Parts: sequence; structure tokens; C-alpha cells
Amino acid sequence: MQRITILGATGSIGVSTLDVLARHPERYSVYALSAHSRVEELAAQCVQFRPARAVVGSAAAADRLGALLRAAGVATQIEFGEAALCAIASAPEVDSVMAAIVGAAGLAPTLAAARAGKKVLLANKEALVMSGQLFIDAAADAGAVLLPIDSEHNAVFQCLPSSYGRQPGASGVAKILLTASGGPFLTRAVDTLDAVTPEQACKHPNWSMGRKISVDSATMMNKGLEVIEAHWLFGAPADQIDVVIHPQSVIHSMVSYVDGSVLAQLGNPDMRTPIAHALAYPERIDSGVAQLDLTQIATLQFERPDFARFPCLALAFDALRAGGTAPALLNAANEVAVQAFLDLKIGFRQIDRVIARVMEALPHGAADSIEAVMSQDALARGAAENFIAGLAK
Ligand SMILES: NC(=O)c1ccc[n+]([C@@H]2O[C@H](COP(=O)([O-])OP(=O)(O)OC[C@H]3O[C@@H](n4cnc5c(N)ncnc54)[C@H](OP(=O)(O)O)[C@@H]3O)[C@@H](O)[C@H]2O)c1
Repeated sequence: MQRITILGATGSIGVSTLDVLARHPERYSVYALSAHSRVEELAAQCVQFRPARAVVGSAAAADRLGALLRAAGVATQIEFGEAALCAIASAPEVDSVMAAIVGAAGLAPTLAAARAGKKVLLANKEALVMSGQLFIDAAADAGAVLLPIDSEHNAVFQCLPSSYGRQPGASGVAKILLTASGGPFLTRAVDTLDAVTPEQACKHPNWSMGRKISVDSATMMNKGLEVIEAHWLFGAPADQIDVVIHPQSVIHSMVSYVDGSVLAQLGNPDMRTPIAHALAYPERIDSGVAQLDLTQIATLQFERPDFARFPCLALAFDALRAGGTAPALLNAANEVAVQAFLDLKIGFRQIDRVIARVMEALPHGAADSIEAVMSQDALARGAAENFIAGLAK
């Protein structure tokens, strides 16, 4: 029986994870669940899965959850705050941690899971983008197993040899090819992009996801963050990672080898496939996802990304090449800009301008400690907020 903590249980990935777990009660039990403010959703999950512990974002949310669970006769222990998130991620009772909090808020608990040597199912790409080598070293030192949940990285993982040791050359890997749908604005006239609404930006053609990652997909910052994530997960330099636009989202990514072979992983666009793969690895279990019917796919298209249409992708490659805390600055500026767009404070095309201004204004430093990373994160958030306030005047 594998005992699991889900960080971010009420989100899109969290709900998909619980869906897979519910199909295999003989293999998995839920040790702890977390949410930030969606208390009613978390309460319903606690009633169904009976975790030993549940963590929320505030004392008020903990009180509300307590009242709901008492009324339902559920004896889950309720806590709140970052220290409690770290505790449920590192508790000795836990085997595997699904890291599915969105954004930088997920760094501390995801790192706690890695430091405790857990099997870490990594959906929270922002944590790895921010902390890079520090995270990889912490996982290696503690003997943690990192399994990618992002469909692209999970696909790459499946296409690499099982003996792969983060050295592309040693395994004959020529390139990692990350596919990208191009999001909802792949063909929309660029000069109309400033008029798009959050609802339009969040309407992804193939995937159903949380709002932040949906906007990131529309700007292609999501792919940029994934390029940085691929660098850290697979040890590939920026020049060995290509982004390929593939609007159908059937091929989830590929690895090309020096002998000319290209291995791809295909499937219907449903996150339960990579979640089930990582949960059961190296075995395979039913995920609830329908089998891909190749005869129903008329065409598979591929094209190069247009960096002028998607400046966020170029900014992410720049940050990866700059190294140090540059990816943490990029991530923090992006989180602030995306929230400002969702709050109707800035237009869609101002997201990349805010990030570019922050990257120009703040010199990056060495990412030699989590404290250094978090202090750059705070600086970038302040700079982005100031810049957005100036835009609004
Ligand atoms: N969705 C996908 O298909 C997908 C695919 C690949 C990778 N990912 C990655 O997976 C992560 C989660 O994405 P998602 O789409 O599932 O996001 P989501 O639907 O927005 O869910 C986010 C989860 O994090 C919690 N949360 C939000 N802010 C928090 C905070 N400050 N402190 C603690 N918890 C907080 C939320 O709680 P409340 O519900 O209470 O707000 C919720 O449980 C992201 O890093 C994303 O890039 C997602």
C-alpha cells in the first residue's frame, strides 16, 4: 500500500490524482490533502478519502474546514500554513508526494518532500524553475525519486532509456523535442491580442487546467518554464531542447537520438495518464483515460514556434542561458503579471512587457541558497508590482 500526500488536492491536477487513486484502493491510501482556500471542495475530498491530515492556507479556513468535518463525523487532523504543508510532505508515514500547488508557494513543501527522500511526483514546475540545481542536489542527497507529471516531461521520461543519468550525450540523445499546442491564440492576429479577456486566454483548445497555467499556455510562458524544467530534469543544455508546435496535443513530446531515431509518446490529452504512470512507475495501471484511436486522427501537424508572437518563450530561453537566479526572477515576474491580467489590471500583451522590464531592471545573482532564490523572488515581485502600478496610472 503506497501512502500519498497531495499538495494542491483541490486543483486540476489534485482532482485528477484523486480520480486515479479512487480506481485503485487496494494500492493507494491518502495520508494528507492540502488546499489554500477552497474549503468546501477539500471537505468533500476528506469525507471521501478520510486522510489522517488536511492543511489549508489560514486559521479562518482551518476553522471552516473543522466545522464541516465535525458535522460530517470525519476525524481528520486540521492544520494551516507553510510549516504544516512541509510537515505533511515530509512525514515518515508518507511514501509519495504529489506536488501540485501552483506557483512559488509550492517550493518549500516540494523541497521538503525531496529533502525527506520521498517519491516526488512533480507537477509544480515553478518550484524546479526557481531552485534548479539546489532542488536536484537536495533530491539526490536524500535519495528522492523525481517523477515528472507535466505531460511533456513525462513523455520525455518514457522515451529515455531507464538507465538515463541526466547526461544526454552518454545515452546518444541528440535533442529533447517538447511539443506545444500553441494555446488558444496560435493563429489569432497579433495586433488583436491586447483585447483578449482572461476567459478567452483560459479557454485552452485541448487541455482543461487551472487559470494560471492556462494563461501561461496562451503566452507560451508555460512552454518556456517547461524548457527550464527539462534542463534540470534531464541535464540538457538550452541548445539541446527544441520546442515544436503541435496543435493536436496527441504527441506529448519526443526524444531524437544521434542515430536518427525519434521516439515519441502519444495519448489522449488527459493528465490522468502521466499521473497514473508516475504513481505506478515502473508498473502500469488503468488511469480511466480512453485508448487513443489512431484511425480517428486525420492529421498531425508540426511547426516552429514564432518567437515574435510568443515573446515569453524567448524570455524563458534567455533566462535559462543567463542562469543563476534569472529563472527565479522570470517566474516571479510572470506570476505577478499573470495575476494582474486575471484581475483585469493589465492587458494580455503587457504580461511579456512586465517580465521583460523586470529582467532588464534586476541583475541576477548566484542561485547558491534557497534564501538567495527567495530574496530574488521577492525583489522581482516588488519590481513587477511597481511597474504594473505605473502602467495603471
Ligand atoms: N492542470 C494541468 O493540466 C497541469 C499540467 C501540467 C503541470 N501543471 C502544474 O501543476 C501545478 C498545479 O496546476 P493546476 O492547474 O492543478 O492549478 P490549480 O487548478 O489552480 O490548483 C492549484 C492548487 O494549489 C492550491 N494553492 C493555490 N495557491 C496556494 C498557496 N498560496 N498556498 C498553498 N496552496 C495553494 C489550490 O488551492 P485552492 O483550490 O484552495 O485555491 C489548489 O489546490 C502548477 O504548477 C502547474 O503548472 C498543471
